[in-house]
Amino acid sequence: MAVAELLGRTRGLTCAPEEVLITAGTTHGMTLALQHLWAPGATVAIEDPGYRAAAAAAERCGWAVWDAPVDDRGLRVDRLGVAPTSTRAYYVTASHQHPLGGLLPVPRRLELLTEATRRDAVVFEDDYDSEFRYDVAPLPALAQLDPARVIYLGTVAKTLGAGMRLGWLVAPAQLIADLAERRRRVHDHPPWPLQRALLCLLRDGEWDRVVRQAKRRYRHRATQVQERLGAYGRLLGLEAGMHATLLLPTKVAAAVAADAAAAGVDVPLLAGHARSAEVQAGPYASGLVIGYARVSDADLHRGLGVLESSLARRTAN
Ligand SMILES: Cc1ncc(COP(=O)(O)O)c(C=O)c1O
Repeated sequence: MAVAELLGRTRGLTCAPEEVLITAGTTHGMTLALQHLWAPGATVAIEDPGYRAAAAAAERCGWAVWDAPVDDRGLRVDRLGVAPTSTRAYYVTASHQHPLGGLLPVPRRLELLTEATRRDAVVFEDDYDSEFRYDVAPLPALAQLDPARVIYLGTVAKTLGAGMRLGWLVAPAQLIADLAERRRRVHDHPPWPLQRALLCLLRDGEWDRVVRQAKRRYRHRATQVQERLGAYGRLLGLEAGMHATLLLPTKVAAAVAADAAAAGVDVPLLAGHARSAEVQAGPYASGLVIGYARVSDADLHRGLGVLESSLARRTAN
């Protein structure tokens, strides 16, 4: 009830309480649904580069994974026609592609839903960080556009912390009932005290306060990242979320990541999120993923300084 109200109020997603299942996070919700929907030979198309845990969860549930290409606006919907005929599901981070940061344009959203309908497939919409959007108009959730076909996944990982292991899944009431029954048999629900704590945070306005404060902080930090690193390469994904991606030539990215590691600053390579050889060799696997949320102001300042001086050296001709 409280989550349905939250989603209606903050995400424009109209759903009834019986269309919501409280989960232990995105990966848990996706795993439950994938286990339930599994059929021999079934394939799920997952963004590449993309969220590795989603691909790992799918493989663990016995699904074949098709690496779906993305660009800086999100999933390349125009390429979905060549996915295997066994494709029964799509996984997409439409509101802030992980890790490239694209906001999937409305025409692509509609095309994705048309393609899913043509194949009678479901769409997993991973809305992991949609609380944090800076000066851009919200785009309609896929689940709002086609509630019968979309399985919407939410998480508290980016608001309260990944360690809380809490999230929600929104889907048609019958699927929710089936998933609830399936997990009831094996006692696979998030602990009641945690659910209760979430309810209290939502009811007494604490959730809104946490999100409001974090959003102000992250917006400021996104601007700092832009100002200090924007001159060194194309920076993607600053309109939303808690990380930005700096596209760089492969050798420069590797050298800067190594310089940063030597200075005690952890900056993952974009290549670490790419799965297929084709994407590894393409323009969207070469760069750095710069998370700017989970550090103190002082550490962010220092980390950006380390990156700035390394980039200045490594990009100088
Ligand atoms: C793309 C994406 N989805 C979801 C999550 C959160 O997953 P979970 O709720 O399973 O911790 C993350 C966290 O880093 C993420 O990057």
